[in-house]
Amino acid sequence: MKKILVIGQDGMLGGELYTKLCECNNYDVYKTTIETLDICNKDAVLDEVKKIEPDFIINCAAYTNVDGCETHFDLANSVNGLAVGNIAEAVNLVDATLIQISTDYIFDGTLEIGKSYTEDMSPNPVSAYGKTKYLGEQMAEKAKKHYILRTAWLYGLGGKNFVKTMLKLAQSNDEVSVVCDQHGSPTSTTTLCEIIMQLLVKQPEYGVYHSTNEGFTVWSEFTKKIFEFANIDTKVKSITSKEYKEMYPNSSNRPFNSMLSKEKLHSVGIYPKKWEDALSEYLKEELK
Ligand SMILES: NC(=O)c1ccc[n+]([C@@H]2O[C@H](COP(=O)([O-])OP(=O)(O)OC[C@H]3O[C@@H](n4cnc5c(N)ncnc54)[C@H](OP(=O)(O)O)[C@@H]3O)[C@@H](O)[C@H]2O)c1
Repeated sequence: MKKILVIGQDGMLGGELYTKLCECNNYDVYKTTIETLDICNKDAVLDEVKKIEPDFIINCAAYTNVDGCETHFDLANSVNGLAVGNIAEAVNLVDATLIQISTDYIFDGTLEIGKSYTEDMSPNPVSAYGKTKYLGEQMAEKAKKHYILRTAWLYGLGGKNFVKTMLKLAQSNDEVSVVCDQHGSPTSTTTLCEIIMQLLVKQPEYGVYHSTNEGFTVWSEFTKKIFEFANIDTKVKSITSKEYKEMYPNSSNRPFNSMLSKEKLHSVGIYPKKWEDALSEYLKEELK
């Protein structure tokens, strides 16, 4: 049986991925959490990987507080960027394959709305988070065998996320103000787990794969859909990014267009669900 090490099992994606990999009974699955392995500690990373000798290492650990990255840049850069170099070195040591999770925020978002970014387009992050994650991609490329999966607007059962924030805000507000000029693909952790599990079986050519749900929207329309599926009456007021920035001056800049093309993923036979279908399935579980 192939051995898989999930790093960051205590996170939203890592937790679900670890459970799903165990449930499928096709792999020997190992995990680390921030309590058992700090990925910034190179010796500890090398020791852990040498001990397990995994075939695949899936790095779900990250510093994911996008606004927090602006004020804690060095920490974010260590975790999201430099530490991936430790993992890549360990991957090469045992001849494993690295699966690194990255983000749409590595693009500057200036692409014309309606066009989507392909994997070969040049990154140019506009936020501290995006810069640190881009460094993480460059570090991941040091692994001889690697996949970099760029995902976006991620939500899932086991962690803080935008959908839960909106559901909570709706409990005490008749109206919520949400940005209406940033375009992207809401993505459920369940869909991303499915993509990863198909990738493990198909093992296509190494490289970068855009890995989100199908279809595109803006945050305000996403919120309307959340409320519609959850039978919530709270109104959604559309505001621009400029208005949001005036309300929260310390918030990070985010790309206006982070629409990621899935053509490459399709070319290897992986077809993610539409974002609305994934959201509906998630809410059925979340609101049980
Ligand atoms: N969430 C999104 O909207 C989104 C969008 C695009 C891409 N992504 C990417 O998707 C991946 C999974 O995201 P997620 O939302 O599941 O993240 P998450 O829930 O924040 O999980 C990340 C985990 O990494 C842990 N961690 C932080 N520093 C660490 C360190 N030095 N050593 C070991 N573990 C450490 C965190 O622990 P603490 O909680 O204790 O810090 C947390 O448990 C990440 O690579 C993220 O960048 C996320």
